Amino acid sequence: MEIRRATERDAAAIRALIDLYVADGTLLPRTEEFIASHADHFVVAVRGDRVVGCAHLDEYAPSLAELRSLAVAPDAQGSGVGRALVAAVEDLARRRGYGTVFAVSNDEEFFGKHGFLPRHIPELDRERSEVSKYKGVYAKDMGDEGRATAVR
Ligand SMILES: CC(C)(COP(=O)(O)OP(=O)(O)OC[C@H]1O[C@@H](n2cnc3c(N)ncnc32)[C@H](O)[C@@H]1OP(=O)(O)O)[C@@H](O)C(=O)NCCC(=O)NCCS
Repeated sequence: MEIRRATERDAAAIRALIDLYVADGTLLPRTEEFIASHADHFVVAVRGDRVVGCAHLDEYAPSLAELRSLAVAPDAQGSGVGRALVAAVEDLARRRGYGTVFAVSNDEEFFGKHGFLPRHIPELDRERSEVSKYKGVYAKDMGDEGRATAVR
């Protein structure tokens, strides 16, 4: 499996992955146009020539970025793809100088395993009405540790 930065050509595959988890409210939908124009901020996991996972690093404030649209194809789950995508997003965040990455999710266990702990981010209460639908906001401060991947 390879983890790399997305390109515009990955947009359809990324949208299809995200769409798998939109119906049950886990992820917010993204259009192909949005993904293509923000491809620089997405990472993908590729097996052979198939995109099996994706994640989006979305700037929220100069020192704060959000991990969004984390999705792994059902038949590729449980083999470390999600973990590798989170690590790649963290690495990208460090390279871009964000001090903190957060995720809004119902999956406290998954994010807890990756060092994201519940944290109150007051700006989100005001600006993001959907936050209240989720169990929590999980945040991790970016140190210098863990520069394992080479996604730039
Ligand atoms: C959550 C998701 C990204 C995990 O991807 P994955 O490739 O199956 O995860 P990994 O195989 O890398 O697992 C990494 C670790 O997290 C654990 N884990 C995986 N899915 C988990 C879940 N839903 N809840 C709790 N722990 C989970 C694994 O057991 C593993 O732990 P271990 O290292 O102690 O064995 C994937 O299940 C998915 O796409 N879900 C639907 C969309 C979603 O929920 N996105 C995240 C919310 S924003």
